[in-house]
Amino acid sequence: MMMMIMSRCGGGGGGGGGGVVKNMVGSTAAMRSMSSWWKSVEPAPKDPILGVTEAFLADPNPDKVNVGVGAYRDDNGKPVVLECVREAERRIAGNLNMEYLPMGGSVKMVEETLKLAYGEDSEFIKDKRIAAVQALSGTGACRLFADFQKRFCPDSQIYIPVPTWSNHHNIWRDAQVPQRTYHYYHAESRGLDFAALMDDVKNAPNGSFFLLHACAHNPTGVDPSEEQWREISEQFKANRILLYLINVKGHFAFFDMAYQGFASGDPARDAKSIRIFLEDGHHIGIAQSYAKNMGLYGQRVGCLSVLCEDEKQAVAVKSQLQQLARPMYSNPPVHGALIVSTILGDPDLKKLWLKEVKVMADRIIGMRTALRENLEKLGSPLSWKHITEQIGMFCYSGMTPEQVDRLTKEFHIYMTRNGRISMAGITTGNVGYLANAIHEVTKSA
Ligand code: LMR
Repeated sequence: MMMMIMSRCGGGGGGGGGGVVKNMVGSTAAMRSMSSWWKSVEPAPKDPILGVTEAFLADPNPDKVNVGVGAYRDDNGKPVVLECVREAERRIAGNLNMEYLPMGGSVKMVEETLKLAYGEDSEFIKDKRIAAVQALSGTGACRLFADFQKRFCPDSQIYIPVPTWSNHHNIWRDAQVPQRTYHYYHAESRGLDFAALMDDVKNAPNGSFFLLHACAHNPTGVDPSEEQWREISEQFKANRILLYLINVKGHFAFFDMAYQGFASGDPARDAKSIRIFLEDGHHIGIAQSYAKNMGLYGQRVGCLSVLCEDEKQAVAVKSQLQQLARPMYSNPPVHGALIVSTILGDPDLKKLWLKEVKVMADRIIGMRTALRENLEKLGSPLSWKHITEQIGMFCYSGMTPEQVDRLTKEFHIYMTRNGRISMAGITTGNVGYLANAIHEVTKSA
């Protein structure tokens, strides 16, 4: 019997070991003493981003700096609860309701969220052509979409930019969607490899799925210009009649918009890439998140939307998204959604939110200037102009994994090994220390 159980749980990572419990004999203690159920389970590798936070927290050094995770901090390095969120909490407190949300989540929150992406007066919203559900922040929205893609386009693949947020790879891997990559970052110029990106879009089989970062690309801080977005959209365009005569693709664009507001300080402006694709008639998908732009990191509140042909299709797609959610988490949590709908449903609170988003974005821009100036004052032989040219929450510094390791070992500075600096973790108090450390590990490069 025991041998049978052991073999059931053998092998790494994959499938479940359920189904044998019914036939078990003997006491739990006896079973435990034979303890072989999870014998073959090896510790999982540390997450390249969240693992950095764990290491930072474990370091007792008082000078330590965390520029790893993409989470906003104020100029004292403290996490921030936005004033609009505090006010929403006060209003919610008098009106508590702990009932289940529907499987698709808060209708009001989803309605307001769609306006941010598709536009206040979007015809697609009016025509009810968007299938949308509340999701567990941006990660949950991406995962739900990946599962949907696998279920309804089982032979499809996803094209992912190089580089991308590391968790994108995990998400589509676990949804069992094969991954391809497309060129994005140009290391020498520290900018966009636009020509190579366009070639990859052109050469991908018609009808390919592409993951696009709507704004404030993570980890590079490099976005296409408006003109480049227009060209990308043009290359994606479906033109079914001429498809075989001219080289126009009918690709599907899935936008991950985790940082709306952090690129320019204005959420409407940051949705430009999406609006361009909509104007061009694409049927897109969008993952939205309030982790960053409302500071609701731990509330896990976001939205997945898919623009459909018509209302009937949208109803069908939404019902399938709900059916995917039901066995995973049944229905999404209520509190964060209530905060968002309270803020966005009240013109004064929404105005306050927009102001606070701008304050966060501006503080990060200020820190870009300060870091670059400090490095230049130290006489660094390297060019650091990309620090101020890149946008959003991150700077893709160009530092090597070995240089990052030295920063951590010698200076207690924590960041991801790909050289990404979370600009949100820099303050007027630590920017000089950080610049000096960067200079020390890069000056002889
Ligand atoms: C990041 O990129 O640092 C954030 O999106 C946090 C995360 O979950 O990885």
